[in-house]
Amino acid sequence: MASNNVALILLTLTHFLFLLAPQTGAQPAASGPANLTGTLELGGQYTTFIRLLNETQQIIQIQSQLNTTTQGFTIFAPTDNAFQILPSGAINGLTVDQKVKLVLYHIIPKYYTLTDLLTVSNPVNTEASWGLNFTGHGNQVNVSTGVVETALNNALREHFPLAVYEVDVVLLPLELFGTKSPKSAPSPKSTTSPKSTPFPKSSNTSAEIPSPAAEADAAPSPSHSKNGAAGMNVRLGIVVGLGLICMGAMS
Ligand SMILES: *[C@@H]1O[C@H](CO)[C@@H](O)[C@H](O)[C@H]1NC(C)=O
Ligand SMILES: *[C@@H]1O[C@H](CO)[C@@H](O)[C@H](O)[C@H]1NC(C)=O
Ligand SMILES: *[C@@H]1O[C@H](CO)[C@@H](O)[C@H](O)[C@H]1NC(C)=O
Ligand SMILES: *[C@@H]1O[C@H](CO)[C@@H](O)[C@H](O)[C@H]1NC(C)=O
Ligand SMILES: *[C@@H]1O[C@H](CO)[C@@H](O)[C@H](O)[C@H]1NC(C)=O
Ligand SMILES: *[C@@H]1O[C@H](CO)[C@@H](O)[C@H](O)[C@H]1NC(C)=O
Repeated sequence: MASNNVALILLTLTHFLFLLAPQTGAQPAASGPANLTGTLELGGQYTTFIRLLNETQQIIQIQSQLNTTTQGFTIFAPTDNAFQILPSGAINGLTVDQKVKLVLYHIIPKYYTLTDLLTVSNPVNTEASWGLNFTGHGNQVNVSTGVVETALNNALREHFPLAVYEVDVVLLPLELFGTKSPKSAPSPKSTTSPKSTPFPKSSNTSAEIPSPAAEADAAPSPSHSKNGAAGMNVRLGIVVGLGLICMGAMS
């Protein structure tokens, strides 16, 4: 009896240590060579992300590193819908460098299973060198950027050297999409002051053009001070408004 218990404890302990131990990448590929494009294409709803990966040359970079990596990669793939719900200027307003950074922010140069992410220590560095935070709740993992937070549910692939997890929002880095002090947005009006332009400075769209959408959003928004949600809504409103104006101008 006693020896059975000892064996059980040892078994549990080794299992636990295994979970805690960083993945060294010693495991062989479990299901053939990792093919990033193929994995995303099979999912069927990541065409925007594939286009961005391609446009920024990252698909070639990652694919060639996948052959030789000992650390592996973890990639968060926003759905097409995640891009559609962004304000229309949000991605097109980025410079080439910023687009690359945004894409790299979705890539961690290390293989993590969802189980690893439950207990990983924050922040986890991405290829953009800005960190992502992971919080585990039971067996549910949330990823947070400081601007957005979402749950990781769907693993498109979870075999070394490549893990690909679906996200239903674009992981907007604080460094590109956050204000410097999100909590100190006192009133919606302050977001129109030149010092706090929330969306990328290099954006071609001028924040001074008043738009009906922005005004409609800004006027009666209840003080929703948590996480500067009100400020974010106003910002989204402004960009949506500008986007609509641009679309109107083009048609
Ligand atoms: C990866 O998958 C894509 C799409 O299915 C295919 O075009 C490409 O040839 C594959 N690459 C490799 C190295 O297997
Ligand atoms: C990737 O971009 C190149 C041009 O840089 C283009 O020729 C190619 O069709 C693109 N591939 C995909 C899958 O979008
Ligand atoms: C990766 O390895 C596969 C075979 O293992 C090879 O066909 C492919 O060309 C390699 N790709 C790169 C980018 O080195
Ligand atoms: C991420 O976690 C670290 C460590 O807990 C914390 O200092 C940091 O503020 C967090 N960042 C965000 C954006 O939540
Ligand atoms: C995880 O993120 C989702 C947003 O997608 C949120 O609704 C949920 O409350 C978060 N879970 C926890 C435990 O914070
Ligand atoms: C602004 O847009 C013009 C053409 O639409 C482009 O040539 C220029 O590079 C853009 N500037 C920035 C900073 O994106």
